[in-house]
This record gives sequence, structure tokens and C-alpha cells, in this order.
Amino acid sequence: MSIEPSLFRKVLGHFPTCVTVVTATTATGEPVGFTIGTFTSVSLDPPMVGFLPQVNSERWAAISATGAFAVNELSADQADLCWQFSKSSIAHPFEGVSWRPSPVTGSPIIDGSIAWIDCSIEGVIDAGDHHFVLGRVLELQHSEPENDPNPLLFYRGQLGRFLAND
Ligand SMILES: Cc1cc2nc3c(=O)[nH]c(=O)nc-3n(C[C@H](O)[C@H](O)[C@H](O)COP(=O)(O)O)c2cc1C
Repeated sequence: MSIEPSLFRKVLGHFPTCVTVVTATTATGEPVGFTIGTFTSVSLDPPMVGFLPQVNSERWAAISATGAFAVNELSADQADLCWQFSKSSIAHPFEGVSWRPSPVTGSPIIDGSIAWIDCSIEGVIDAGDHHFVLGRVLELQHSEPENDPNPLLFYRGQLGRFLAND
């Protein structure tokens, strides 16, 4: 039975995701990064997380070559960064973005992100037109910017923020 791609996208779009930017620093010291919505927690013991890049992604190829990455969870007031890091036409998405190197792998931690996770690449599993990338967690931290600790969420093609029940 074949699944209609537009229905697949529409149904999966009903599952909200957290917007992250996955980053690395290349051997020549260049920061690279792309917007990733498929980030997930995988294992506590050993500590592992994962995400799914498209197999033909150039940014993934650059990150993969470093053997490491950092995950930055964007805050609700960083919607512009979501688009900046998702367009291949923007060759230097870090332009104008303040960041510091992560403590273990030196991957960019973007100022204002509400949590970050520094990882080495533990494994890459083929998953159709995507890879499933497993990251071993080496260091992690959450920070709560005083003005807006709310995460940036993606749901049915739109960005938004979390609203807790009473
Ligand atoms: C909200 C959002 C979530 C995204 N999630 C993913 C993802 O999980 N995996 C992926 O490969 N691309 C994802 N993208 C698209 C990539 O950010 C984009 O295709 C990539 O940066 C293009 O660069 P490249 O093809 O040069 O690597 C997402 C884009 C947006 C706006």
C-alpha cells in the first residue's frame, strides 16, 4: 500500500516539534549549522540523543566530517534564526549571530538558546531518505533567559510558543 506524500506531510505536521539548530565547527574553524525539528532524547544510560538529517544535506555532510555536534534549543523570540539556519541560499547563517564554543567539542552554542547539548557522533543509521544520527552526550546545560524562557515550537507549518494548562 502506498502512502500519498502530501498526506504523510500533513499528518506528520500535526505532531508539534521543538525547533533546534544543530551546529559544529569545521577543521578550518568555520561554524556550520542547520535548523532541525527531529531532535529527540534517546537514552539516559548511556546518555544519547538523536536527530534525522536528509541524506543529501550539505550541512549534514559538513557536520558529519567533524565527528561532533551541539544541539541548540531556540527560544520563542529566536524565530528569525529558525529561517536563517534553514535556507541553503544563506551561505553564512552565523553572520550577526553571537555564539561561543561548547566546552568539549567546540561546537557553536548560540547566545539566547534555552538549552544546549554537546555531543560526539556515536552512530549513523540509514533511515530511508534520512539518516538517524545518534549523539553521545558529553556536556549539557539549560539556561533561562530572563525575558523569554519559552521554547520555539513548529506545528502545521507555523512557529509558535508553549502555553501551559492552568
Ligand atoms: C522548522 C524546521 C525544521 C527542520 N527540520 C529538519 C530536520 O529534522 N532534518 C533535516 O534534514 N532538515 C530539516 N529542516 C530543513 C533544514 O534546516 C534545511 O533543509 C537545510 O538547512 C538546508 O541546507 P542543506 O541542504 O544545504 O543542508 C528543517 C527546517 C525547518 C524550518
